Amino acid sequence: MKRVLIIGSGISGLTCAVETAMAGNCAVLVSPYPSERAQSVMAAGGINAVVPNGDNGDSIDLHVRETLDGGCRIAGERTVTGLCTDAPHILTWLEGLGVVFTRNADGSLARRAFGGQSRKRTAYAGASTGKQIVTALVQEARKWECAGRITRRLGLQFHSALIEDGVCSGALFYDETAKRLEPLYADAVVFATGGQNRLFGKTTGSALCDGYAAGQLFLQGAKLKNLEFIQYHPTTIETPQKRMLITEGARGDGGRLYYMENGRRVYFMEEKYGEKGNLMPRDIVSKCIYDAPSQVYLDIAFLGEQKIKENLREVYDLCREYLGLDVTKESIPVAPSVHFFMGGLAVDIKHRTNICNLYAVGECASIYHGANRLGGNSLLAAVYSGRVAARDIAQVSPTPSHANFESYIREQNEKLSARTATKSRFSAVYIQNDLAKIMNEDLGIVRTEEKLHDGIQNLQFYLSIVEKLKYDSEISPYQAYSLRPMLCLGLAVLTCAAERRETRGAHIRTDFPQRADNMATCTLIDYNNGAFDVTYRNEDELCW
Ligand code: FUM
Repeated sequence: MKRVLIIGSGISGLTCAVETAMAGNCAVLVSPYPSERAQSVMAAGGINAVVPNGDNGDSIDLHVRETLDGGCRIAGERTVTGLCTDAPHILTWLEGLGVVFTRNADGSLARRAFGGQSRKRTAYAGASTGKQIVTALVQEARKWECAGRITRRLGLQFHSALIEDGVCSGALFYDETAKRLEPLYADAVVFATGGQNRLFGKTTGSALCDGYAAGQLFLQGAKLKNLEFIQYHPTTIETPQKRMLITEGARGDGGRLYYMENGRRVYFMEEKYGEKGNLMPRDIVSKCIYDAPSQVYLDIAFLGEQKIKENLREVYDLCREYLGLDVTKESIPVAPSVHFFMGGLAVDIKHRTNICNLYAVGECASIYHGANRLGGNSLLAAVYSGRVAARDIAQVSPTPSHANFESYIREQNEKLSARTATKSRFSAVYIQNDLAKIMNEDLGIVRTEEKLHDGIQNLQFYLSIVEKLKYDSEISPYQAYSLRPMLCLGLAVLTCAAERRETRGAHIRTDFPQRADNMATCTLIDYNNGAFDVTYRNEDELCW
């Protein structure tokens, strides 16, 4: 029986744990917080799947084509075909676990229209699909816990992977109760740590998803991919803690975007793109909102109170709570915000990274979405990737390692206590906040060489001093040791964005406004003794 260490307990981690247990192996599911606090619970809109024998002319081929087109033709056809082909089975599996998807009056599965898709393909559970899926998976995981096939460990923060000679045999965690680093060994290690939201400060996602694992693994030899493609969700609202999503489902159900000019409404998306204008892919809608001459509003009031309260309850509640606004009567002021990271750890079709025995799933892996993700494909990819990794691990024999990590662990423990014993006026939190400011300003909806190089220089400066800083003993050890990998990740993102001298999907360069045919490939970035090396590869050719 194999022992599989899964780091991160949102939808992709939970699915991987359940599949691992189903395959007869043992999963250790590790996270600092319970699954109920994972970003997955925030996913509102739904999950894409073609309903077999559906009545709307949809097909798996169409789902594949629209995913590839939406991603501006740099995702791999083979990988995307796997994703879309498994989608109907995933929907059935989730229903079997108890997820209650919304149904029409005749009992058929209700589906929403989502951006960049010509058919209604997005199944949903009201406006809380992510929450429902997490709840069902947690319940399933508990059954396997009782059977001794899943062990859950909370309160552990990832520190570093245990890698020697390109083989991973476990990971080191900071135990917040014992206040020490603890190693966990395994035959395979799966990262399910989510996106890089914290790197950008306020986004639609959870600040607990900070990109640290990707940054740390990058420093330990893992390749990263497509980092420059960062999705701005077109319709979000400002709240004190974060940007709140006004689900694309609101436009899928008919919501219209407009701005005011000379006292009249300008429905700019419809004027530019016709009837389907409000549901263009997110990169296009966000850029149009960015270019609008004044505040953009989303009108759903004309849908009527009953439909809004039935289908878009969370939108109704959010706007009332945070804006004091009644969406059955008034329009919602919206703006784009960072929402999703198409880039992350580079994985092949089996979700293996370039390091033996080390996998990545969910949003921390870069694979299906190319330069722009379609709404409804992220929940799908989260479940699918967890299944793929668990099944691959069940089939292959792990590469053995005879490495001894005792002295490494001792050194790291000493380093940690030396850091936390010092009082200093310099705050790691200050650098972290400035990092978010730099990332937001220099990697906005539109980018230029000049801004990107400013960002690179600023982060290079912080990196040159970060090891010399003394840390205030009041900050958590995690805040202290996460700073360098996060700065490196930020620098890797800026470097990839500077190197891609074209406009494609979510990467919009005002100094290179055209798509370059010779750049229809993925960006890979490697860390080599302080150098950040960028190369290009076709996704379907990735294999380690
Ligand atoms: O707008 C939304 O509900 C977001 C969905 C998604 O990102 O898949």
